[in-house]
Amino acid sequence: MTDKLNGDAPQDPLKPYKGRFETYNRIPEKGREADHLLEELSLMAEEENAAWKTGKISGTYYHAGDEHRAFLNKTFSFFSHVNTIQFDLCPSMAKFESEIISMTANMLNGEAVKAVNPSDEVCGTVTSGGSESIAMAVKAYRDKARAEKGITAPEIIMPKTAHPAFNKAGEYFGVRMVMVPVDFPDFRVSPERVEAQINQNTVAIVGSAGNYPYGLIDPLAELSEMALKHKIGFHVDGCLGGFVLPWIEKLGYKIPSFDFRLPGVTSISADTHKFGYALKGTSVVLYRNPSFRRYQYFAFPDWPGGIYASPTSAGSRSGGLSAATWASMVSLGEAGYLEAARAIMKVSDEIRAAVDDIDELIVIGEPTFLVSFRSETLDIFHVNDFMKTKGWRFNCLQLPPALHFCVTLPQTRVPGLGDQFREDLAEGVSYAKQKAGTPAQSSALYGLAGTVDGNQQVTELLCGVFDHMYAI
Ligand SMILES: Cc1ncc(COP(=O)(O)O)c(C=O)c1O
Repeated sequence: MTDKLNGDAPQDPLKPYKGRFETYNRIPEKGREADHLLEELSLMAEEENAAWKTGKISGTYYHAGDEHRAFLNKTFSFFSHVNTIQFDLCPSMAKFESEIISMTANMLNGEAVKAVNPSDEVCGTVTSGGSESIAMAVKAYRDKARAEKGITAPEIIMPKTAHPAFNKAGEYFGVRMVMVPVDFPDFRVSPERVEAQINQNTVAIVGSAGNYPYGLIDPLAELSEMALKHKIGFHVDGCLGGFVLPWIEKLGYKIPSFDFRLPGVTSISADTHKFGYALKGTSVVLYRNPSFRRYQYFAFPDWPGGIYASPTSAGSRSGGLSAATWASMVSLGEAGYLEAARAIMKVSDEIRAAVDDIDELIVIGEPTFLVSFRSETLDIFHVNDFMKTKGWRFNCLQLPPALHFCVTLPQTRVPGLGDQFREDLAEGVSYAKQKAGTPAQSSALYGLAGTVDGNQQVTELLCGVFDHMYAI
């Protein structure tokens, strides 16, 4: 039995359950039956699952299928009530997290650091996601530079294409983020432009493997040499690519080095909750040696509640996520990750070929698992408008306008998806040609950004969306 009040089609995309299920603005006086709740929740989940099951949603859902997810949910349930911060009560957490870190370090060639300095040893922590991994690295660089070099106005240089999690961390931790534009039409950061920004306050530079907009790998070897030359930190953001590029490389694709094989790399973020196929809520941040990690830790010995310390910005965390992450890595094994990468690259290669075959579209850079494209003759957002009608969800890029499609495992489970993409894209381009000179629906928000006034308007609009989401 559900509390379906009416079957009318929802008007508000953020509130589709309003009027269909009971709305609670206070804890119900008497608790509801678990069976009813489970039925309601499974209805919501199934409706929302319908989208990714089409295989037409870019990125977003990274999981390795229902069976793997059910297995992880079971491992989660054994430790869902455990608090990782009380590690003395749950030694299983020390096992899971130390092994997650070690397995990730190994995958990213952590042993290579010994060739440069035999006393180095890659180490790290498990965090709640890519943004926290990045924030922790930013804090570590800030505090290390302050303690060891006396830098009190720290700066970090990042490509404009690096994830806004760096900007967020900069804002939270008082680190100035120096943004370097990417070169056109290469769309990767130019090492010369990065070097031009280095000064006595620079604590670190950033490169992505690959970046979110285009999935591209910055010229990391050059950045690595630069970091060594200037004796500054070098963070590689592998949040997106960290768990898939190693396997794509093993498949024989030409992938430039992006990990600890580069001698100047001092930290890497890699998300277990993306291509690690774990449950949502975990990532790993790795450091070349413990002298960096030490500055990530927080301790407050002087508290009436006892001596307090936490390795990351989170306090309590569910042990279930650490158990499930560990279980994902161990159950898939290298063979599982390799197979997943093979399936992803098959679809990605098909998508790339489809874009390549259309004269009006230009593939950006040398893609792997994520294909981005733009046009110099069409409004690419018209293509997006059409593709939306066919159920495709791209990520819309701006500055310049482009679209990206990130291939994850759900896309690999739909037979013939590449052919469908090819067919729909060709129609989308015809549609865009017909619509030339008219404004595309998708571009409304993007048209605003890029100026101080426009940015302010977009910011207010987005804050309004959050307010609306949190309104009952
Ligand atoms: C390259 C890159 N870095 C960092 C992040 C942030 O990760 P999260 O959303 O897990 O905080 C993302 C997310 O998509 C990303 O693509």
